[in-house]
Amino acid sequence: MKPIKVGLLGFGTVGAGTFAVLKRNQEEIMRRAGRGIEIAMVADLNVERAREMTNGECEVVNDANLVVDNPDIDIVIELIGGYGIARELVLKAIANGKHVVTANKALLATHGNELFKAAQDKGVMIAFEAAVAGGIPIIKALREGLTANRIQWIAGIINGTTNFILSEMRDKGLDFDTALKDAQRLGYAEADPTFDIEGIDAAHKATLMASIAFGIPVQFDRAYVEGITQLQATDIRFAEQLGYRIKLLGITRRTAYGIELRVHPTLIPASRLIANVEGAMNAVLVQGDAVGATLYYGKGAGAEPTASAVIADLVDITRLATADPEHRVPHLAFQPDAMIDTPILPMSEITTSYYLRMHVADKLGVLADVTRILADATISIDAMLQKEPAEGEQQTDIIMLTHQTQEKNVDAAIARIEALTTVVGKVTRIRLEELN
Ligand code: HSE
Repeated sequence: MKPIKVGLLGFGTVGAGTFAVLKRNQEEIMRRAGRGIEIAMVADLNVERAREMTNGECEVVNDANLVVDNPDIDIVIELIGGYGIARELVLKAIANGKHVVTANKALLATHGNELFKAAQDKGVMIAFEAAVAGGIPIIKALREGLTANRIQWIAGIINGTTNFILSEMRDKGLDFDTALKDAQRLGYAEADPTFDIEGIDAAHKATLMASIAFGIPVQFDRAYVEGITQLQATDIRFAEQLGYRIKLLGITRRTAYGIELRVHPTLIPASRLIANVEGAMNAVLVQGDAVGATLYYGKGAGAEPTASAVIADLVDITRLATADPEHRVPHLAFQPDAMIDTPILPMSEITTSYYLRMHVADKLGVLADVTRILADATISIDAMLQKEPAEGEQQTDIIMLTHQTQEKNVDAAIARIEALTTVVGKVTRIRLEELN
């Protein structure tokens, strides 16, 4: 059989990795796919560099339209990133009857519904294993491996940059700004790290996992997104003393009232495997009703780990390209006409536990006032830590861990606590998940 022809848009780190791995493992990949997979065309603005790196083995152009309009190309790999030109090119590739492989979580989390619909109408596939947790085959696991299960929740460390920063803060006692600079110097964080440190990249990935887990449309605009920029080294230390680590988690959970979809720093018990995922590594914990908990761990970024996911998609498409579109694995795991509109819950309606730190005057009755306010809000205290004031100081920190409650109860209690004359400044609130 003739090889399937692939056009690659964007020859950066992942593009070059995909080219290299496909070439290095071509014989084995062909034995798996049942057919050769050939990158026939590459589009990149830096034509010279792409030509040099592809060694004259494929046509290199600087206009991506030449690839998506080429009738000989069967599959387009989109590695340009962003929502603008990438969206136009993907739509054009679909309109031209080409299957699409993309690592672009931002594009799919914001325009996924439009793109999946276009692909469905045209009978082509969009595959995006590389968009979530890089080399970890989490999309495949959720969509196929766990297809028997009613997924109950997913919690993932799905941004390597922030996990690296948090590991540095904990290991070396660094503050956020210093740890971020280290991450940039070592090449983990981008020059503009906004998407990573503000939690947006993790929220894009959590949004995609929520759709696949629960059969709901992609709804990034309903996700709660909180990054790690406000996190203080003090809280990492106090959490540690209480037996917890702080991780930036992407969480999605099915409840009786709707779906929780949220990204925020989270205390997790230090004894959990996922709490020990350090540096730039990723891990995703999935709770299914039949299988129980399963944990997926690996590299969430980088040339060859991401290429591993891109090529897995190429092989899937190669195997399925000739199958009747009705009998392929659906883009979002559930058949398009079987998607449901379970709402994403507003943050005030989610249920979790909390770490609360308040800076208080060391005076009689402060603790009684705080515990009364929590009791009034039906919040039960699970653990407490109070430090002696430093020598010569009249103020100290009180740290409380609560049992599970609704976020709106905590909002109300925090407002009342902050209004006490004995409480100084804002209450620090970090959510806590036992993950059991
Ligand atoms: N910037 C991401 C991370 C990788 O740090 O994990 C790509 O999504």
